[in-house]
Amino acid sequence: MPNTAFLGTGFFVPPLVVTNEDLTRWMDTSDEWIRERTGILERRWISPDGELTGARMACRAAEAALEEAGKGPQDIDAIILATLSPDHSFPGTSAFLQAELGLPGVPALDVRTQCTGFLYGLSIADAWIRVGQYRTVLLVGVEIQSTGLDLSTEGRDMAVLFGDGAGAVLLGATEEEGRGVLSTHLHADGRHAKDLWCDVSSSIKRPRIAPEDVASKRVFPRMNGREVFRNAVARMPEVLIEGLEANGLAVEDLDLLIAHQANARISEGVQRKLGIPAERVHNNIHRYGNTTAASIPIALAEAVREGKVREGALLGLVAFGSGFTWASAVLRW
Ligand code: UT7
Repeated sequence: MPNTAFLGTGFFVPPLVVTNEDLTRWMDTSDEWIRERTGILERRWISPDGELTGARMACRAAEAALEEAGKGPQDIDAIILATLSPDHSFPGTSAFLQAELGLPGVPALDVRTQCTGFLYGLSIADAWIRVGQYRTVLLVGVEIQSTGLDLSTEGRDMAVLFGDGAGAVLLGATEEEGRGVLSTHLHADGRHAKDLWCDVSSSIKRPRIAPEDVASKRVFPRMNGREVFRNAVARMPEVLIEGLEANGLAVEDLDLLIAHQANARISEGVQRKLGIPAERVHNNIHRYGNTTAASIPIALAEAVREGKVREGALLGLVAFGSGFTWASAVLRW
């Protein structure tokens, strides 16, 4: 059975930088509060000119991953795209990405597990490659959060956290033993579905979205921040250790940890629980905020570009988010 290797990584973020100071134009907040509670200094948002879509950002990230791999779109056998903010209700953004890449006939699948979407997608891609169904899979995480945020003071707990962007990896079958994806572990607990969710638009309502939904702000995401925080700090170390133990490995064996960039305080909590030194962790939340499904592939592509991922390195990827869902992947680069 082949293993799943990382052939290339890439990312794209919109050029528009939104600083904490910029946010004070819309809501009662401060650079100091945001820095202290979240570690975020700035994030990227798409501009209102309509130039960038999720599919276009995904395409730019995919092109960078293809370039790094020395491959072209024609080498892609299947596409998986993770997002909680699809460009349209249907079809999925993966269909639009497939069209942008010019790949009619190639299967395109959307994954909807929010912050863990990239890791759920990785698990699916890995299974496809291992059973021999596809040899080369493009996996993208993309998010446009900025258009769905309540920018008034009422929505400030959520609005300051999120950013837009895309990250991609090109995955390919390798016959080399012990290389690539060593394991993925996935979990969910739907009892917490409404602790971090967006109610409307909703297909159980007629119409699915109405002016009163905008007035009552049901169109904006809502979060039980403390519950999310508490669970994130507990579940991420747990599922990473589950992954490491399944491979007969321990935290000390890890060369690099990339955790979903939810909040710097969450990442610090995870790091402390695992007892892993800061130099073996890659964080970028200060630059991009929380880009949900895009956060891990953006951080991974960045770490590769900064020379932090050497051949043979052991990597741990871990995420927690809406659902609740949580997941880990252990990789040998
Ligand atoms: O991928 C998962 C996505 N979600 C997350 O990662 C979020 C997890 N949760 C968190 O990171 C934290 O709960 C937050 C950063 C969202 C909030 O931090 P906190 O320390 O839990 O603050 P809090 O909700 O207890 O609020 C403390 C105070 C409140 O004011 P009062 O009631 O004490 O007067 C809030 O109204 O801070 C206020 N506050 C703000 N003030 C300035 C909340 N948001 C803001 C803001 N600027 N943006």
